[in-house]
Amino acid sequence: MDKLKWWHNAVIYEIYPRSFKDSNGDGIGDLRGIISKLDYLKTLGINALWLCPVYTSPNIDGGYDVADYYNICDEIGFLEDMEELIEEAHKRQIRIIMELVANHTSDQHYWFKDAIKSKDSKYRDFYIWRKGKKDGGLPNNWMSSKTGKSVWSNKGNTDEYYLHLYTEKQPDLNWENKEVRYEIYNIMKYWFDKGVDGFRMDVINKIAKASGLPDVPDEVPYHYGEMYFENYPHVHKYLNEMYYEVLIKYPDKVAMGQTSGVSPEQALSYTDESRNELNLFLQFEHMNIDCGDEGRKLEFNPNEFKNSIIKWQTALDSRLWNTIFFGSHDSPRMVSHYGNDKEYHEKSAKMLATIQLLLRGTQIIYMGDELGMTNVNYSNIDDYVDNRSISTYENRVNKQHEDEKTVFEDIRALARDNARYPMQWNDNKFAGFSSVNPWMKVSDNYNIINVSKQETDKDSILSYYKELIRIRNSELTIGIGIFEEIFEEDKDLFAYKRVHKNIEITVVANMSIDEKEVNTKNFGKCIISNYDDECGKLRSYQVNVYKKVLN
Ligand code: NOJ
Repeated sequence: MDKLKWWHNAVIYEIYPRSFKDSNGDGIGDLRGIISKLDYLKTLGINALWLCPVYTSPNIDGGYDVADYYNICDEIGFLEDMEELIEEAHKRQIRIIMELVANHTSDQHYWFKDAIKSKDSKYRDFYIWRKGKKDGGLPNNWMSSKTGKSVWSNKGNTDEYYLHLYTEKQPDLNWENKEVRYEIYNIMKYWFDKGVDGFRMDVINKIAKASGLPDVPDEVPYHYGEMYFENYPHVHKYLNEMYYEVLIKYPDKVAMGQTSGVSPEQALSYTDESRNELNLFLQFEHMNIDCGDEGRKLEFNPNEFKNSIIKWQTALDSRLWNTIFFGSHDSPRMVSHYGNDKEYHEKSAKMLATIQLLLRGTQIIYMGDELGMTNVNYSNIDDYVDNRSISTYENRVNKQHEDEKTVFEDIRALARDNARYPMQWNDNKFAGFSSVNPWMKVSDNYNIINVSKQETDKDSILSYYKELIRIRNSELTIGIGIFEEIFEEDKDLFAYKRVHKNIEITVVANMSIDEKEVNTKNFGKCIISNYDDECGKLRSYQVNVYKKVLN
C-alpha cells in the first residue's frame, strides 16, 4: 500500500436500517431514526456507517431486491432524509457507505417488469434468459446454495427461463450487456454526487458467469453452481471497467467488495492497487466455520476460528489489507456465535471485541454488538421472518422430513434473524426501538441488555468498546503495525503482537472457560483488560492488552 486512505484504519459501523430506530411509529426503522442516533454513534468513536439497502424494494430479501436504485424505500424515508443523513453524518466526521446491489434487481424493477413480458422488450437482454433443455429439463443443473432450489424460473409470457442465484424474485443482471454495466455506473455516480463516501458491493464477485452456462459436474455436492459464477475470471474485466468509468474519478470513495469464497490470492487480485479494481474485500471463512450445507449447524471449534483469522492476517506476507468483522446482518450474534452468551456474556463479549479491534485491517462493528446483543430467543418458527430461515425449514422439514426439533435448533443458532431483530435502546416497551409493535419481534432480554443501561455503567460492554476504539485510534501501532502470532501451540489462547517502530502491543486472550497459566512478564504495562486484576493467570475468557516501548 503506497499511501493510507481514510478507510484503511476506519472503524465502520454496520446498520440494518429496518431494525435500528423507528422515528415515525410505524414499527420499522428509518433514516430519521438513524439521524437521531448520530450523536450516540459519534460517542462510540466510529468513523463511517455502512447502511444495508435503503432503496425502494418489496423487501423479499431485506432490501437486497432493489426496485428503484434512485429512491428510498417508503417505509425507510425520503430522498431528503438521505441527503440530511449524509450532511449530518459529515458534520460529525462520519462517512456514509451505501449498498450497491448490482448482481440482481428485484422482479419489481421496471427493467424486469418489462423484460418478462416479451422477447422483444427493450430490457430483455438486461437479464439472463435460456430455453429449457430439449428433454423438457431446466436450462442447466445449477442449484442455489442460498435457497436450496434451482436458479431458474419461468414466470413470464415466453418459453424462456431467467437466471436467479438468489430467490426467484431477484433476477440476475446480465453483465455481458454493456448497457447494464453503464446503468450501474450511473447509479454509482448519482450517489457519489450526493455525497455518499463509498459502496459495499453486494456479491460483486458473482456478476460474471461462465459463458454457455454449462452444467456443473455430477460430483459437485447438491449441484451448487459456484464454480461457474463465483470469482469467474472476467469479473476482473468488469471491475476494471467500473474503475475507469467511475472510481478513478472519485478517488476518496471506497469500493468494498463482498467476495465470498475467495482465496488470499484471489482477494489480492481484487484489491491490489496495481489492479485498479476494488479497495477492500470481505471474506467469510471465519464466519462460516460452523455452517454446514442446507443451514446445518456444525460444532464451533475456537481453534479453527483462530487459525482462520491468523491465516488471513499473515497470508501473502501480510500484503493483503483485511476487513475485519465478527458479526453482520447475515450471521448470528458475535457473542452467541463465538463466545459464551450465558454465564460469561460480558466477559466473552469484551474478549471478542478486543481480539477483533486490535487486529490489522479495516474494522466493522455490527449494530448492537457493542452491547453484546445475543441471538434471539424465539420459540416459534413463525417468529422468524428471513426468507433463508423459512426456506431452510421448508426444504428440510416439509420436503426432506428431517426431525423438526433439530432443524429448529439449527435455525435458532444460525438464522440471519439473530442479527436483524430490533436494536435495544432502553427497557421501555419494544426496547425503545419503536412506540408500536415492531416488524420483527424484540428479544426478551432487552431490559437487561440495552444502550441506556450501559451508557451509565463504566464497566459495561459499551463503555469497554468506547475505550477499545479510543485506544485503537490513538495507537498507530494498532493501525499499521506488523502482526505476529504468539503462543501458537496453545489451542485455547488467541494471542498476538502488533509492532511498529519501538512500540509493541500484545493481546493475550483465553478463549476457554478453564483458567490458563501464562507468562506475560515481558509484555509491558497492561493497558486494558476485561478483568480488574492481573493475577499471573488468565481466568475464563480473560483478555489482557499490554504495551511496551522497545529499546
Ligand atoms: C449478500 C447479502 O449480504 C445478503 O444479505 C443477501 O441476501 C444476498 N447478498 C443477496 O443479495
